[in-house]
Amino acid sequence: MPTLHWIGKEKVVNHHQDVPYRVLEHQYGFDAEQGERTEPTESGNKIIHGDNLEALKSLLPGYEGKIKCIYIDPPYNTGEEGWAYNDNVNHPKIKKWLGEVVGKEGDDLSRHDKWLCMMYPRLQLLFKLLSDDGVIFISIDDYESHHLISIANEIFGIKNKIATVVWDLGTGTQAGHFVRSHEYVLVYCKNKNLVPNFKGGAGEIKHSALKKISKKNPKSDFTFPKGTRFDADSGTKLDGSWGGSEKTFLKHGEMISEDGELPDKVTLEAGWAMKSQMKEWFYGNKNETYDTKGQKLLEFYFNSSGVLTYRKEKSVINPPTVIRKLANTKSGSKELEGIIGENNFDFPKPHELIKYLIKLVTSKNDIVLDSFAGTGTTGQAVQQLNKEDGGNRNFILVEMEDYADSVTSERVKRVIKGYHFNGKVKKALKSYKINITNLKNANDLVDFYEEKRTNGEYNEVNIESDGEKINIVGVKKVSGKVNGIGGSFDFYQLGQPLFDENKLLNEDVEESRIREYVWYSETKTAFPKERAEDAHKHLLGTKDETDYYFFYEKEIITTLNHEFLATIKQKSDQYVIYADNCLLSKEFLQSRNIIFKKIPRDISRF
Ligand SMILES: C[S@@+](CC[C@H](N)C(=O)[O-])C[C@H]1O[C@@H](n2cnc3c(N)ncnc32)[C@H](O)[C@@H]1O
Repeated sequence: MPTLHWIGKEKVVNHHQDVPYRVLEHQYGFDAEQGERTEPTESGNKIIHGDNLEALKSLLPGYEGKIKCIYIDPPYNTGEEGWAYNDNVNHPKIKKWLGEVVGKEGDDLSRHDKWLCMMYPRLQLLFKLLSDDGVIFISIDDYESHHLISIANEIFGIKNKIATVVWDLGTGTQAGHFVRSHEYVLVYCKNKNLVPNFKGGAGEIKHSALKKISKKNPKSDFTFPKGTRFDADSGTKLDGSWGGSEKTFLKHGEMISEDGELPDKVTLEAGWAMKSQMKEWFYGNKNETYDTKGQKLLEFYFNSSGVLTYRKEKSVINPPTVIRKLANTKSGSKELEGIIGENNFDFPKPHELIKYLIKLVTSKNDIVLDSFAGTGTTGQAVQQLNKEDGGNRNFILVEMEDYADSVTSERVKRVIKGYHFNGKVKKALKSYKINITNLKNANDLVDFYEEKRTNGEYNEVNIESDGEKINIVGVKKVSGKVNGIGGSFDFYQLGQPLFDENKLLNEDVEESRIREYVWYSETKTAFPKERAEDAHKHLLGTKDETDYYFFYEKEIITTLNHEFLATIKQKSDQYVIYADNCLLSKEFLQSRNIIFKKIPRDISRF
């Protein structure tokens, strides 16, 4: 496979292994009832303020291989520096990081080299966090899409590329020779064999509910209740029998259309194709009627010729690779402005887009991660989707800028608790094509404008033009309250590194976090939350018939000796015991299946 090379690549390909492990420090919890509070909500929803390289590393012990859906919208590297979003790699924090990792050479890197150096180790950590059947969506545009595809092919494997999706923005901005009116969403996974085809998009099947009458499909009676939809013009009456080879016969009552409905019940005879579903839909539970393939029946009705017809949901539709008419960047900006009252951000994503993507791949209890969270749109999308389908998905958001609290978290808080909004609604009042006739009659336009401007109906009346037409637009100010959709989350800061500059355990870090780290470094599994009440104080847990002990106390030098062994009551096939020293002989350790590991020397880094 062709691979991409750039200056600095060799310094970053394995860099994710050297990233210091920092603990996450809880700052506050938030829930719909109490608002902000000091105790953790333990809801599983997290917003983390910090560089995602370190944050992703901190997430490994709890989440390696557990994230079902990752959505990221990294800086597009447009070269813009004046944005509220940190859109380029000349940001001081990233510059400092590049200086440390790539060294002096970093000064000479082009914008694209830097961007690749920034993305590569982050994508590697995201790969580790993704579950075997998980999917990652990456928003990008033309500035870096070709580079991104190359490194994603390298990290995820070219065979695990699912698609390059085009998001049609509907409108666009001038970009060189074209008006740029699309973006991309790259879709990759960890193992394509484990990712079922996506179902999505709206779809419906409409078909006659009759079959040809035969021995195999004999005719039978069915009584249709009053009010059944009948699409013929009012007053249309059918008698005897109608239809071609799939005939319908009138048995009792009158087959009449009155305002598009049967005015009374009527019994018909035919070779019905879906009789059990008809019974369920007309006389049982309308909302729970399915065909033999599990597709939901939406309606039975008579078409204008009196043929019984059904509409059902087409449940297996593979979504198209072009996403059309699903909000755009302008609606993302409006949405944010409506929620937090202002928008200084260029092009936040609309939550509808992210919700659509998440819905393609997640079930109700999955975890969704966004490590370039910006204004927190992904948090909103997860909550909205949970509300719609009764799900319990969790979100984890990471944002490096200080607005992680004032914007990212604030948006999620408001969506949870509800908010007052002040907005404007625009209405096109009149449109004049720019041509000689209309220009000659410009007085009409001015009169109309003056009348609308002064009659008090609108707060503002504006004259706008798109180059072809002059539009008179009325603007009304609106305000109201949007109800909260409930939920909760915890806000974290990236805290202390676990090891200090002398590679010793950092004494300021809570012991419980060190234990979590050591357990994960040994077993690559999340630290067990539950432990037996009478469990040994230093037991981390048991995995594969091995008991792991971490004999560490900040104030004293710990020693693995007979005295310590005497405190262990639980029998196991093998023991791994960490301590500062060991006074037991190699032979003795071997005879008892004990592996001694020295603190901190033998704590492996990941
Ligand atoms: C294009 S914006 C994301 C917009 C987001 N999808 C939304 O709808 O608001 C990219 C975000 O990633 C953040 N970012 C860039 N580099 C980062 C890093 N190393 N760690 C964490 N966040 C980072 C930027 O500060 C910015 O807010």
